[in-house]
Amino acid sequence: MNDLQGRRIVLGVTGGIAAYKACELARLIGKAGADVDVVMTEAATHFVAPLTFQALTGRPVHVSLWETDQANGMAHIDLVRGAAAVLIAPATADFIAKLAHGFADDLLSSLCLARECPLLVAPAMNRQMWAHPATQRNVAQLRNDGVEILGPASGEQACGEMGEGRMLEAEELCDALIAHLQPKLLAGKRVVLTAGPTHEPLDPVRVLTNMSSGKMGFALARACAEAGASVTLVAGPVCLPTPAGVTRIDVRSAFEMRDAVLAALPTDIFVSVAAVADYRPAAPATHKIKKGAERLTLELVANPDILAEIAARPDAPLCVGFAAESQNLAEYAEAKRRAKKLPLIVGNLVQDGLGGETNQITLFDAAGSHPLPAGDKLTLARAIVRHIAEMIHA
Ligand code: C5P
Repeated sequence: MNDLQGRRIVLGVTGGIAAYKACELARLIGKAGADVDVVMTEAATHFVAPLTFQALTGRPVHVSLWETDQANGMAHIDLVRGAAAVLIAPATADFIAKLAHGFADDLLSSLCLARECPLLVAPAMNRQMWAHPATQRNVAQLRNDGVEILGPASGEQACGEMGEGRMLEAEELCDALIAHLQPKLLAGKRVVLTAGPTHEPLDPVRVLTNMSSGKMGFALARACAEAGASVTLVAGPVCLPTPAGVTRIDVRSAFEMRDAVLAALPTDIFVSVAAVADYRPAAPATHKIKKGAERLTLELVANPDILAEIAARPDAPLCVGFAAESQNLAEYAEAKRRAKKLPLIVGNLVQDGLGGETNQITLFDAAGSHPLPAGDKLTLARAIVRHIAEMIHA
């Protein structure tokens, strides 16, 4: 994905052992389409050679304030001019202290002062250094100054201790950078989503379910969080990681899903991506059903329609439905939109089965149908968020 296409990112690397993870981070940011200018402190060069970053980014690596190959001798200004963001990973306790106090005695700290673009900082240090009141004071100061602090995570540390202070993984940091640069179209809005299938028990070991991977719903939850919304994701049984910044509530059956959605209200926007089972076994068996009979008849009863119920409330949020159809997409999706009284429904034709990484969707609203170019689910999710934002601000 080219989430950072056409952007230039300054990656600052300071002197901690997590500098080795910054190599992978430089590669990922470059893979996302950005030009990556790596700026290292002198201490960082004791952990990783500048040549490593040069090879990974295909661009010169900067260490000294006193580089003479810069025409005007002002590397600290030139490097941040036009940059989309500065990301410091790893950021040592010492460098965080310098940032908090506005020191500018090397190239990286100088360009942090000279920048106009956002600054993101990924601390990495021993747990006691992280917990020290001085560090906590400095981090609070940076937050106050509008700096985004990414992590740190908890876990095993290079020093052999366990605790808080580990740098986030390269992929998490790259995702956080991409998220930071997304337009905040849903700032201040609350969003509740459902995703995945539901499990309707037949007996203690068997369920009726739907072929839903949950990927589209999770991508939408991520896109809403990236757009600045406060997001609650009610997830059926799926094995997917929770997107950063999203509150997740795991449920199994349609009834549990309904209860969780009602408990998450009020909200500004409700997006129902889940493939909720329309029916459940009328009387699940207490013990495992034994095989033997030639024929077995199941009696099913209808489940509550969560989306229709939320859309019918007097205080209904902006409700968005999904319609996966195997034929007559426009006709069926529009009929559903009207029946459930939804301002917007997202339709897709299920041709090659569910669970893929890409999709082809069409949006149906009161103005008509809007086909979107086929794409990966996160790109589509961001396009859906743009449409929802336009509707909610209209
Ligand atoms: O009518 P159909 O089930 O095809 O409608 C699909 C839309 O309704 C989806 O957005 C789905 O999440 C939602 N739905 C629901 N509760 C159900 C069935 C569907 O919220 N019991």
